[in-house]
Amino acid sequence: MKKPKILVTGSFVMDNIVSTEVFPNSGQSIIGTGFRKAPGGKGANQAVQAARLGADVTMFGKVGLDNDGDVLLDTCKEAGVDVSAVLRDSSTHTGCAAVLLEEVPGESTKNRIIIVPGANMKITEEETAAIRARIADFDMVMLQLEIPMEINLAVAKCAYEAGVPVMLNPAPSAPLPPELLKYLAFISPNEHEAADLTGITIGHDGHEANYGDVRLAASKLMDMGVKNVLITLGSAGAVLFADGKEYRSPCASGITAVDPTAAGDSFIGAFCYGTCSGWERDKVLTFANHTAALTVSAMGAMPSLPHYNEVCKLLKDRGFGEY
Ligand code: RIB
Repeated sequence: MKKPKILVTGSFVMDNIVSTEVFPNSGQSIIGTGFRKAPGGKGANQAVQAARLGADVTMFGKVGLDNDGDVLLDTCKEAGVDVSAVLRDSSTHTGCAAVLLEEVPGESTKNRIIIVPGANMKITEEETAAIRARIADFDMVMLQLEIPMEINLAVAKCAYEAGVPVMLNPAPSAPLPPELLKYLAFISPNEHEAADLTGITIGHDGHEANYGDVRLAASKLMDMGVKNVLITLGSAGAVLFADGKEYRSPCASGITAVDPTAAGDSFIGAFCYGTCSGWERDKVLTFANHTAALTVSAMGAMPSLPHYNEVCKLLKDRGFGEY
């Protein structure tokens, strides 16, 4: 089978991960329990995830001329991502993030992340010319919101005009230009981003989401011009609205999150891989949920993103058959 060819235009971020037993309050200093660095960034995470699953991935973005930039590019290269189009900027640092992990024994770990974009915000529209000239070569273009909005707009417009489907993961949450929404084949907000974009708060009853709210948020996004809507609901799984139908997929059960960082990126990378491979919608969602389950079971963003055979093994162990 032909490998899906995916272009990710997006961010590179070096995560500085601090573990603690409890998040500090405002004005409080506390002693943490651990520190490590791990390569991340929503764009690069999604690129690495799709590549580790077997896609032929090209990444476009910008890093600084520093060691963090080297490590991020090397990690992407090791995963098989083509980073030859990535630019380097000597005027600022590579994107970085403070990732706080609250680890409570017996509970799923929670995170809080502050991103300082650095070089990610230095991409100019002229610098996208070479990648836009190649856009028709790709089966899908993936975007997020950690680079300038005008870059996303220029790349999305170009892909749309070339008939290449665009997936936008609208994270971190930000208002979107109405024009951008019209170029999207898919948008994948989590429930908080969906609320910010549509004004509709998705209610929960225990682990179950209120599907009336989910439907309303999705239909508002489709009214704004997006073709298909994928809403991720944390422990309630995900819902896809596509081809005039609704596809629900629960989270993989029995997983305790060691580190939830990059769960969304992993899910979306797997979703795009499966979609570009021509799989049925339900199969894609089950695959993406199990890919994300493996990601939250390990520490760090990129280090935790699983390979295709690991996801297949988990699916087989859980009775989903061959993938
Ligand atoms: O989605 C997770 C990612 O968001 C982290 O790796 C961090 O770098 C931030 O960009």
